Amino acid sequence: MNTQLVYLDHSASTPLDPRVLDAMLPYFSEHYGNSLAVHSFGRQAERAVEDARDTVARVMNCHRHEIVFTSGGTESDNLALRGPVQYALTQGQPITLITTPVEHKAVAVTARQLRDTAGAALRVVPVDEHGRVSADDLRAALQNLPSGGLALVSLIHSNNEIGTRNPIPELAAIAHEYGAIVHTDAVQAPGHGPLDVSALDVDLLSLSSHKFYGPKGAGVLVVRNGIDFLTSHSGAKHEDYRRGGTHNVPGIVGTAAALELAMNTWPETAPRLAALRDRLVEGIMDRVPDTRLTGHPADRLPGHASFAFAHLDGNTLLMLLDQSGIAASSGSACKVGDPRPSPVLEAIGLGPEWTRGGLRLTLGHSTTGADISAVLDVLPKKIRAARQMPPSISV
Ligand SMILES: Cc1ncc(COP(=O)(O)O)c(C=O)c1O
Repeated sequence: MNTQLVYLDHSASTPLDPRVLDAMLPYFSEHYGNSLAVHSFGRQAERAVEDARDTVARVMNCHRHEIVFTSGGTESDNLALRGPVQYALTQGQPITLITTPVEHKAVAVTARQLRDTAGAALRVVPVDEHGRVSADDLRAALQNLPSGGLALVSLIHSNNEIGTRNPIPELAAIAHEYGAIVHTDAVQAPGHGPLDVSALDVDLLSLSSHKFYGPKGAGVLVVRNGIDFLTSHSGAKHEDYRRGGTHNVPGIVGTAAALELAMNTWPETAPRLAALRDRLVEGIMDRVPDTRLTGHPADRLPGHASFAFAHLDGNTLLMLLDQSGIAASSGSACKVGDPRPSPVLEAIGLGPEWTRGGLRLTLGHSTTGADISAVLDVLPKKIRAARQMPPSISV
């Protein structure tokens, strides 16, 4: 194994920014009160939570009451779907969920579960070869909605596996024309471009702090005023009854600090990462035969490069790269011993010779030109080796 490690899996997780850690540290040991307690310790914790709420609302251009602190992206996605559905159930309304085949599992599995347990009708809108939803396809999915019912459209903002960004404001406007409400999973978005809830025109939006140099186990769900929502995470009065459970005060403080940094720094970091990413993409496309860039060629996350390699098992390639000190990912949930093809690669129309051979390389603050050179040197050799091995062998 090389001693020089190259981490190119920032879409999976990012390191905690030291400035975020500094902001969080006092809330682990010094200021440990419960934010619902009436005494001074409690009031101090409550102040920290409410200051964090102000910060998050300010940098995302929404109201402080619209911010719900959660345990991360999976919980935010769950609540985003389950909250409106639970409310509709109490009203006896028919429920229609509209989503895409390229959603993260936190949305996809939840939608299927609500179909099976809450009687929701589930409509899946196809995506194009870049993983984008078209206005016409969304319109088609919005036809003949039952009157007086809940229609909830959930569309991924920036795809975790292939980096494509959806035109959310345009699609949200269409959904609203038909009386639907709109959720977007924006977990991959912060730090890569603007993220203005009002400009996006969505009703619900999910974030996960560890994707933008904040802590793991913390996140945000934005629930815009006027959205009917009955939590599936009930308890005491935390988060205005929308998410019960003692506040993770250090996590919430860290979320606000990290999000503010992400919003302030993206204009500088995004072009730097995009330039390195373009060098990486060009180099790989030049050096490796039978390769496709997956995702949109231009409108994609700046630090995101993703590929499909024909006749290759992605897990085998990941293990070979790891042996050379390169940390990458397939971007899908497939694991060693589970060599199923990627549903996202299938949804963008790739055939069976491609769908097991996904590779995602995601750049971040620490990525350098030397990292890109190292990958361009090592990857073609590892792909040649992987193509000669049977699928998912232990190496
Ligand atoms: C698009 C997307 N949504 C949701 C999640 C889940 O977030 P968390 O890890 O905070 O549960 C992820 C994490 O990989 C993601 O990429």
